[in-house]
Amino acid sequence: EAALGTPGPLAGKKAVVTSGPTHEAIDPVRYIANHSSGKQGHAIAAALAALGAEVTLVSGPVHIPDPTGVKVVRVRSASEMLDAVKAALPADMAVCAAAVADWTVANRATEKRKKKAGAPPPVIELAPNPDILAAVSKGEGCSRPRLVVGFAAETETLLDNARDKLARKGCDWIVANDVSEGTGTFGGDSNVVHLVDAKGVEDWPRLGKDEVAARLALRIAAVLGEGK
Ligand code: CTP
Ligand code: CA
Repeated sequence: EAALGTPGPLAGKKAVVTSGPTHEAIDPVRYIANHSSGKQGHAIAAALAALGAEVTLVSGPVHIPDPTGVKVVRVRSASEMLDAVKAALPADMAVCAAAVADWTVANRATEKRKKKAGAPPPVIELAPNPDILAAVSKGEGCSRPRLVVGFAAETETLLDNARDKLARKGCDWIVANDVSEGTGTFGGDSNVVHLVDAKGVEDWPRLGKDEVAARLALRIAAVLGEGK
């Protein structure tokens, strides 16, 4: 056995995990963000490390502690996140749990925007962000990990949207996440998820985010672990 690293079924395997929101700058003091806490992505990074994987966690701005046993790379924007993910590849597995902003600000100001008496409010123009999960899944400008897992946060037609994302992005699994009102996922400590692959759907009960992470890590180890 290798002398270095934590023992476990994922010993000697490399993982890249994205987590948290991204911040897209409007000007030097303002940004567009979302409600992602980073709890689920951070828990997945910790769970993979606990099974012995060498984990790089690429995290947007969050207010939770770094998981132990994990290399953390902090980024702000989606474009920085993509660069950091590419720098962390090649890897055996990638789990994209970040709530990446779909759009960045096309007309970002280099100086703070100022009010002017009588002038209309500024208009923020948006431009699409790179899709990190799709780029990694398709090996665009990077080498494709053997297993690529994405998330699908949906408020309606959860499974149809998840299957659509699986096909469109080219990842192996989608963890479909019901974020509709009352499920208490964003910022909460539990998640109701469904594991979707090309063959079908597995419904998981409501679990703590740590339990979702531990289960997912075990499923990953069943595919990639120990000589597989
Ligand atoms: N994702 C990504 N980069 C993006 C957008 C999304 O890596 N620019 C990843 C997320 O980390 C997640 C998956 O893609 O693993 C699905 O994200 P989601 O926001 O649900 O899907 P979108 O394709 O952005 O579609 P929409 O927001 O319109 O539902
Ligand atoms: Ca999105």
